[in-house]
Amino acid sequence: MAGYGTTARLLHWIVALLVIAMLPVGSMMVQEGLDRVTQDRLFIFHKNVGVVILLLMLVRLGWRFLNPPPALPDAVPAGTARVAALAHWALYGLVLFMAVTGYVRVTMGGFPIEGLEALGLHPLLPRNDAVAEMAKTAHFYGRFALVGVILLHVGAALFHLIVKRDGVFQRMWPPVVRR
Ligand code: HEM
Ligand code: HEM
Repeated sequence: MAGYGTTARLLHWIVALLVIAMLPVGSMMVQEGLDRVTQDRLFIFHKNVGVVILLLMLVRLGWRFLNPPPALPDAVPAGTARVAALAHWALYGLVLFMAVTGYVRVTMGGFPIEGLEALGLHPLLPRNDAVAEMAKTAHFYGRFALVGVILLHVGAALFHLIVKRDGVFQRMWPPVVRR
């Protein structure tokens, strides 16, 4: 069965791993009672990896428009295919939403993004505490929607792998294909 190409697969798995790491790191770093050094490290990881995710997602969207995914097998009912497509767009949208609200919260709140600073790249947005606060709230709640869609998506992928065994999982796995 036709699958995704190696570029799409590599981008999928790199972003998937990074996003799955960002969720617990984000929640841990804001816990009370964490020692300062650990907290700083987690914040630096979260902010900088978040920007990497944002850039990878933009590359990924561009790649997808140039290389549309192969059609699903006929055995997958049209309704299921529509739900899958919707979930995929929700994942693109929610990951971008989290990355953008995180970036706005940090830069408009007047905090540094160390990796960008090291490259000599200045914040794209001016300081504005009210907007930073709104972005913080959006970032806080957006996570629940993202976790929900990821659970649905991973559940569906594993259902195809273990129960249906119809090759849909192998459209994305392994991360590198030899043709
Ligand atoms: C896919 C990308 C991202 C995900 C999944 C994510 C996830 C999270 C989560 C789950 C939290 C914990 C929220 C809480 O419990 O209060 C959080 C907090 C935070 N995130 Fe992100 N994040 C992402 C991207 C970013 C980016 C790009 C930045 C900044 C450049 C960022 C900056 C922050 C900050 C500063 C907090 C602490 C919020 C506060 O001020 O209390 N995040 N993030
Ligand atoms: C370990 C967990 C994961 C597994 C097993 C998995 C599995 C898969 C599989 C098998 C596909 C191909 C579906 C098809 O053929 O139509 C796929 C597509 C996709 N996955 Fe995942 N995935 C995982 C995590 C994630 C995460 C965390 C995200 C979000 C950051 C994500 C975003 C996507 C998107 C957007 C697509 C559609 C790609 C496109 O058509 O452009 N996945 N995934």
